[in-house]
Amino acid sequence: MASRFDFFTSTISLLIILGSDAFTTSTSSTKVEETLQFTYSGAMGPDKWASLNPNFSLCATGKLQSPINIVSARAVGNKKSKPLIRNYRAVNVSLVDNKYTVAIEYPDDTGDITLDEKQYRLRQMHWHSPSEHRINGNRFAAELHMVHVSDDGKVLVVGTLFQLGRPDPVLQTIDKKLYELGSEYISRSRSRSRYYIQVGVFHPAELRTSLSKYYKYTGSSSVPPCTEHLIYLIIAKPRSISKQQVAALKAPLDIRCKNNARPCQPLNARHVQLYQD
Ligand SMILES: *[C@@H]1O[C@H](CO)[C@@H](O)[C@H](O)[C@H]1NC(C)=O
Ligand SMILES: *[C@@H]1O[C@H](CO)[C@@H](O)[C@H](O)[C@H]1NC(C)=O
Repeated sequence: MASRFDFFTSTISLLIILGSDAFTTSTSSTKVEETLQFTYSGAMGPDKWASLNPNFSLCATGKLQSPINIVSARAVGNKKSKPLIRNYRAVNVSLVDNKYTVAIEYPDDTGDITLDEKQYRLRQMHWHSPSEHRINGNRFAAELHMVHVSDDGKVLVVGTLFQLGRPDPVLQTIDKKLYELGSEYISRSRSRSRYYIQVGVFHPAELRTSLSKYYKYTGSSSVPPCTEHLIYLIIAKPRSISKQQVAALKAPLDIRCKNNARPCQPLNARHVQLYQD
């Protein structure tokens, strides 16, 4: 596991908040405030991120930042779209709470997605609530980011939006673990910055939403250090999630990170492409 995290922290700062041992501060006297590197509200909120650490400067100066509001009428249709090939297998996973988000971490051999003949391996996925991306100004109840990384360190994020409604069957398979993570948070000493729960076998293929229509654009990590040149594929059709599930995703998080959605960023010179079968 250690080498996997080293890989994350040294090559993709995107996952800095999930992977860095630096944040797993060692002394039990460490206060929660010191382990959080940023928050979603208050004095360390999104408009202050760049001032919190010199390594976070892109959060203010970057021109390819995420999330964005996708205006469907302005998306450029791309007829040359090649089918996306997803190839995942069942693996043992752990559920992680790092106070900013709840995540599932995948082992190296989970599988990959192929886009334009390049393979990106599934490494991790995490939830934001409410959604970070908007479509035509509409915000959704939650958003799942499946983070894939190629061998040369390119990051591809598949984003799925969720509207309130019926429970999400995939989340239902880990509901119990999620509640466990939430309730443990209340009783535990609050000095540790990462909590793990073994989930057991999980098949990411269950997450296969239809990829027959999706938006694609170049963006950034939506958390500090806001690293750019990530490929985002935002699936056009939202899935549904229940209120209880949204609450369960928020329960383990720090109070200032419960609404863990960065505001939309300027599109600048970028174009969003639309892929449709
Ligand atoms: C900035 O990032 C570098 C490289 O990862 C790291 O060595 C340094 O400690 C970071 N600076 C701060 C203030 O966190
Ligand atoms: C998951 O872990 C259990 C216990 O270590 C093991 O028996 C099982 O084969 C593993 N399954 C997969 C798909 O790796």
